Amino acid sequence: MADIQSGGIRIQHLYKIFGPKAASHVEAVKNGMSKADLLKETGHVLGLRDINLDIPAGSIQVIMGLSGSGKSTLIRHINRLIDPTAGEVLIGGVDVCKMGFRGLREFRRRQTAMVFQKFALLPHRNVLDNVVYGLEICGVKRSESVATAMRWIERVGLKGFEQRFPNQLSGGMQQRVGLARALAMDAPVLLMDEAYSALDPLIRMDMQSVLLDLQKEIRKTIVFITHDLDEALRLGDQIAILRDGCIVQQGTKQDIVLRPADEYVTNFVKQVNRGRVVCVESVMSPSRLGVASAGNQVAAGTTIEEAISMLTHNPAIEQLTVVGSENQPLGTVNLRQLACALITSEEGCDASRMPAEELGRADAPVAVSRV
Ligand SMILES: Nc1ncnc2c1ncn2[C@@H]1O[C@H](COP(=O)(O)OP(=O)(O)O)[C@@H](O)[C@H]1O
Ligand SMILES: [Mg+2]
Repeated sequence: MADIQSGGIRIQHLYKIFGPKAASHVEAVKNGMSKADLLKETGHVLGLRDINLDIPAGSIQVIMGLSGSGKSTLIRHINRLIDPTAGEVLIGGVDVCKMGFRGLREFRRRQTAMVFQKFALLPHRNVLDNVVYGLEICGVKRSESVATAMRWIERVGLKGFEQRFPNQLSGGMQQRVGLARALAMDAPVLLMDEAYSALDPLIRMDMQSVLLDLQKEIRKTIVFITHDLDEALRLGDQIAILRDGCIVQQGTKQDIVLRPADEYVTNFVKQVNRGRVVCVESVMSPSRLGVASAGNQVAAGTTIEEAISMLTHNPAIEQLTVVGSENQPLGTVNLRQLACALITSEEGCDASRMPAEELGRADAPVAVSRV
C-alpha cells in the first residue's frame, strides 16, 4: 500500500476495444488492423492502441487530442472506470486491473480524485457540504472534515461562500468547489477530464493559475485532459497527443512545439505563440566548455519572449549569456536568434537552420533540446 501512495503512474501496452468479443480481436489490432477496418469487419470500436505512458509522481501530464481520439477512455483506465482489453495500469507499482472489489473501492476513495467538466456538484448541498461530501463517505468525523473542507475552500479562493448553493455560483466558482472537493480527499492522483473546457477563456486562465499555484505546494500526480493547446502548454510538464486511440507524440512542450512528430501535431502547434513556450537554451549557440562569457545573464528556462524583452529594454546589450542552475555558462543568444525562433520553418526562417557563422561559431551544434 505504501507503494501506491507515491502516486507515479505507468501505463504499459494498454489496448481497449469496445464490443462484445473485444478480447478476440486484440491480436488483429496488435498486427496492425486499423480502427476503420475493425469497425467495418467486426463491428467493434478501437478505443486505445498500445498506449505506453510514464507519469512521474508529482508532475502534470496533459493528454491532448481531438474529440473521439480516446482521451476520456484513457483517463478512465487510471481509476478503472474502464477495464482494459489488454495491458497494465500501474499506480505506485500496483496494477489497478488486478485489484479485487474492496481493494478497488479503497483505491478509488483514497488514491484518486476526479474533477469533472460539468462540475457534478450536489445541488441541494451548499459549498461546504459539497466539499465535505467525500470525507463524509470515508467516515471522517464532522469536525475534522469541516476543518479540512474550510482549508481547501479558502485555498481555492472561496472563503465567505461556504453557505452558498451551486445555483448561486458562476461556472468558475462552481469549478473551484469541484477542485476543493477533489483536493480535500488528499489523494495522490488527481484526474481532470476537460475540467476547464466549459469555462469562459478568462475564467479558464484563472483556474489554470489556481491549479499551478496549488501544485507548487501539493505536488499531486495530475492527469489533465484538454483539447486546447494553449492550456496544454501552460499546464503540462509532459504532453501526450492522442489520435484515433494512439499516442502520436509525447514529450515536453518544447518537444511538441519545436519538433512536431507529424502533420496532425503540426496542425495543433501552428498557431502557438512560440515566444511563450520555447526557452533560450533551445536556440542559443552553446559555449565552448570552460569559456565563461561576461555580460548579461539569463537563466535557462527563460522564454524567448522574456529574453527579447530584456534585450529590447537594454539596447546597449547585444547578447545574453544563458546560465544553468549553478550559474555555469551554457551558451549565448542574440536578438536575431531569438526573433528567428518565433517564426516557423515553414515560413523560411528557423534558428535551427541558420548557418553556423550566424550562430557565432564555426562548429556550433545549432539546436539544443532542453531535458
Ligand atoms: N462505451 C463505448 N462503447 C463504444 N465505443 C466507445 C465507448 N466509449 C468510447 N467509445 C469510442 O471510443 C473512441 C474514443 O472515445 P473517447 O475516449 O470518449 O474520446 P475523447 O474523450 O477523446 O473525445 C470514440 O471512437 C468513441 O466513440
Ligand atoms: Mg472525452
